[in-house]
Amino acid sequence: MDRLLITGGRRLSGAVRVNGAKNSALKLMAAALLAEGTTIIENTPRIVDCLTMAEVLEHLGASVAWEGSTVTVDTSGARGLETPYELVRKMRASIVVLGPLLARWGRARVAMPGGCNIGSRYIDLHLKGLERMGAEFSYEHGYLEASAPDLHGAVVWLDFPSVGATENLLMAAVGAAGTTVIENAAREPEIQDLAAMLVEMGARVDGAGTTTMEIQGVDAFRPIRHRVVPDRIEAGTFAIAAAATLGDVRIEDARAEHLDLFLSKLADSGAGIEVEPGSIRVWASDRPLAVDFVTLPYPGFPTDLQPQMMALMAGGRGTSIATENVFESRFMFVDELNRMGADIRTEGHHAVIRGVERLQSAPVRALDIRAGAAMVIAALSADGISEISDLHHVDRGYENLEERLASLGAELRREPSLWPAAV
Ligand code: EPZ
Repeated sequence: MDRLLITGGRRLSGAVRVNGAKNSALKLMAAALLAEGTTIIENTPRIVDCLTMAEVLEHLGASVAWEGSTVTVDTSGARGLETPYELVRKMRASIVVLGPLLARWGRARVAMPGGCNIGSRYIDLHLKGLERMGAEFSYEHGYLEASAPDLHGAVVWLDFPSVGATENLLMAAVGAAGTTVIENAAREPEIQDLAAMLVEMGARVDGAGTTTMEIQGVDAFRPIRHRVVPDRIEAGTFAIAAAATLGDVRIEDARAEHLDLFLSKLADSGAGIEVEPGSIRVWASDRPLAVDFVTLPYPGFPTDLQPQMMALMAGGRGTSIATENVFESRFMFVDELNRMGADIRTEGHHAVIRGVERLQSAPVRALDIRAGAAMVIAALSADGISEISDLHHVDRGYENLEERLASLGAELRREPSLWPAAV
């Protein structure tokens, strides 16, 4: 269990490359279950969550091999049945094997995912949609038993454009008899990436990236080679780190078109933004101006950049208001930021951030992936040496973060933690 010691006040400069998107790679790995044979997924980040998904697939009988950032999933031995609690508790996203398992084997047994630091994380929309497609569910000893011998198409209205529900329904519908229409579907670039891979595998999907997806079920899928879309959240994290340290960073292999609203907010805060095909340059020469922002499903401001943006605003000029509309308790990290001298008050899903001249170094904890990234950004801009513990949260979502920050001039080092890990 590691901690990160960061000496604040170094301007970040140079170039850094963005890895493939965690929130796409996980679903692409699950989608490989649909086809008999070997699927190859390139540009897969070698982060803890992807290693956990590999364990889930191996538990289902597939064999998974890594070569650099290329993961090979061979499903010839897969018998698809159960996803155990010890894996689901490590990573809620394991629930996305439900769709492919029902489409391929008509049954599944998946441990119920609990909540996490950012919210209760229900799956009712997943289950309601799959029930409309003929699936039946029962709960036994913390496990969801699913059966769908005659999975069929249906019109499914989502109460909320849930990313996970859209992905699970999509991966079930591609193998269901007939036509499925998902209304109020999520539109994230990671969903478009998943749909693109499914179509390469032989699926028939229209409308990915819009609020209405139409899927014609097919009987068989072929294993293919696919490249994961760049990680827009990682790109946004580096962009904010550049602005917070008054640096000048070129973020390579990043798709600016996946970050429109975010980049315009960053520009409103006074950062310089230069977009070129495949890269985004971000620089700043003064403390950021206060900007208000509201998280919403894509193409709204990404909730996965909310903590990092709040870390930037904490050292800003003026008072800004952040509104979190996607998760009900995604402000837990605010106390950690206030330990660094920030002046943030939260009220329900609003946070009022009164910018301070300079954050101060302090020992803080990473409470989840993005809260951890926010602590790193705060520490990079703070006065003194900060200690960030529970780094395992950051490792779940960022590959070699400290090496890449060090390559941009940051002064930091990873050390074994002095304290036992908090869950
Ligand atoms: C995905 O989570 C991402 N995770 C999250 O990223 C991201 O924050 C989220 O989408 C929103 O963009 C992965 O892709 C692995 P949702 P997911 O279903 O699919 C409620 C990160 O840091 N809801 O869109 O779980 C739910 O409680 C992570 O990389 C229901 O009520 O998100 C939440 O409040 C964090 N019932 C909201 O919808 C349901 O059945 C959004 O959830 C499903 C969701």
